[in-house]
Amino acid sequence: MAGSAAVLLLACGPSRAPVPSSTVDASMTSSREQEIVTAADRTRPRVDFAAQIRPILESRCQPCHFPGGKMHEELPFDRAATIQDLGETLFTRIKDPAEQALIREFLRQAEAEP
Ligand code: HEC
Repeated sequence: MAGSAAVLLLACGPSRAPVPSSTVDASMTSSREQEIVTAADRTRPRVDFAAQIRPILESRCQPCHFPGGKMHEELPFDRAATIQDLGETLFTRIKDPAEQALIREFLRQAEAEP
């Protein structure tokens, strides 16, 4: 048993190192990463209201500011426009620095490119 395991290890050893197919994989990955980095340099990644902002509000401001809640008619938080109108007033109730940073970036982008 121990003998055959050693043979297996030896058999795996050389094939792991400089195999052409793994070299191809690595170069493909790094060129794709380069594309992403270049794109991020050109324009900062756009914060998506539905994907990134609304989930924060849903996790903290339900049920009142969402459909069926008592504040949905006045201040609907499932609409980006409400958040843009309120701006940093939200930060009296959303204190998490990472969430504030994301909302701040969303507000900045909405103002720059409405
Ligand atoms: C339990 C229900 C409820 C929840 C949950 C709730 N709100 Fe409200 N919200 C209200 C009500 C009622 C009002 C109107 C009366 C008032 O101003 O308190 C209001 C008003 C507001 C206003 C406008 C008045 C002000 O104080 O500036 C803002 C902004 C606001 N909410 C933000 C939030 C945010 C952000 C969250 C989640 C982090 C949240 N609310 C969660 C019920 C709620």
